[in-house]
Amino acid sequence: MGTIAIEGVRRSFGSVEAVRHLSLDIRDSEFFTLLGPSGCGKTTLLRMIAGFTEPDAGEIRIGGKRIDTLPPHRRNIGMVFQNYAIFPNLTVAGNIAYGLKARKFAPDEIARRVTEALVLVRLSGYGERWPHQLSGGQLQRVAIARALVIRPEVLLLDEPLSNLDARLRVDMRGEIRELQQRLGITTVYVTHDQEEALAVSQRIAVMHSGRIEQLGAPEEIYRKPASLFVARFMGTTNVLRGVAGARDDCGTRVRVGPSELLVPVLDAREGEALSLCIRPEALRVIVGGEPLAADSARLEATVRKTEFVGALVRLDAELADGTPLKVAVLDDPVAGAAPGSRIALAYDPARVTVFREGAP
Ligand SMILES: Nc1ncnc2c1ncn2[C@@H]1O[C@H](COP(=O)(O)OP(=O)(O)OP(=O)(O)O)[C@@H](O)[C@H]1O
Ligand SMILES: [Mg+2]
Repeated sequence: MGTIAIEGVRRSFGSVEAVRHLSLDIRDSEFFTLLGPSGCGKTTLLRMIAGFTEPDAGEIRIGGKRIDTLPPHRRNIGMVFQNYAIFPNLTVAGNIAYGLKARKFAPDEIARRVTEALVLVRLSGYGERWPHQLSGGQLQRVAIARALVIRPEVLLLDEPLSNLDARLRVDMRGEIRELQQRLGITTVYVTHDQEEALAVSQRIAVMHSGRIEQLGAPEEIYRKPASLFVARFMGTTNVLRGVAGARDDCGTRVRVGPSELLVPVLDAREGEALSLCIRPEALRVIVGGEPLAADSARLEATVRKTEFVGALVRLDAELADGTPLKVAVLDDPVAGAAPGSRIALAYDPARVTVFREGAP
């Protein structure tokens, strides 16, 4: 069983607390992602699981067995490093065989496993090539083959796609996910790319300053952010500062300058400062006399700028008091969306997330 149990793990470097008292349970065969901005402690946590960095406190178990006291080569973990760490002076086969040689496998077993690993990452026939003769995507596959060849219980991937161009990243993330499912191997994936995390993960832990800020399924993290930090980090969002007003059966009214938004019922006091998050794609431009759906509320804004980006049109709009509001609409001739024009926007109040903290 490839479960990973992390309990009260901490690690500082001098005065920097890279990982602060962190506990986490990763399930067997799970594709689990650590997501967060640069410097939040993702690599440090991954290196502690692999055994390359020693925790100051806490315990780590794999399949119930304590491993944080074992040297890296006795942990049965495959790791792909942030910069691949491919040895330039070894052939592709030599690179993949490295861990097996270190573990003193017999030469014929090494040859058999290297061939098998090359097939797995679709590089059959590349064994005798040198690293400088490979593309970025191929090098990345060598790094994965090298991690998998020891048949680890757990696979750790530290920003494995960061050196690839945008198009290849999308292809490769699909390949990694497909391979992981085929092998059923418990995988911890590190990235600072929100879309990548949402696309491949079963669960995501959003990290911030050495802590887990939120843990959940991709939809949950995106739609129900637990804090303003997560809401902002998980892609463009509108953060509106408002003041709680009256509450009725439909919800709570929140004033943002002279505008009023309807949000789900809250137990906020009237007059309390709130932050409202609403995603640009949760706002819809209503055309002409189109009737409002029963579950929608309405908001007036003025268009300041429009940007055509292919599938989407992004509108930079403004509420009556000048509060900026981003709106994303699927490309479709948007009536009256020229700069300066007034538009009506419809939204479902259930898609507004409210935080009882004034936005900074
Ligand atoms: N060996 C080290 N010596 C000193 N400080 C370190 C060391 N390794 C990490 N740190 C510090 O610990 C913090 C967390 O670093 P870490 O590499 O874990 O972040 P990360 O989330 O992986 O960032 P990135 O997305 O940039 O890779 C940072 O402030 C970093 O400067
Ligand atoms: Mg890192």
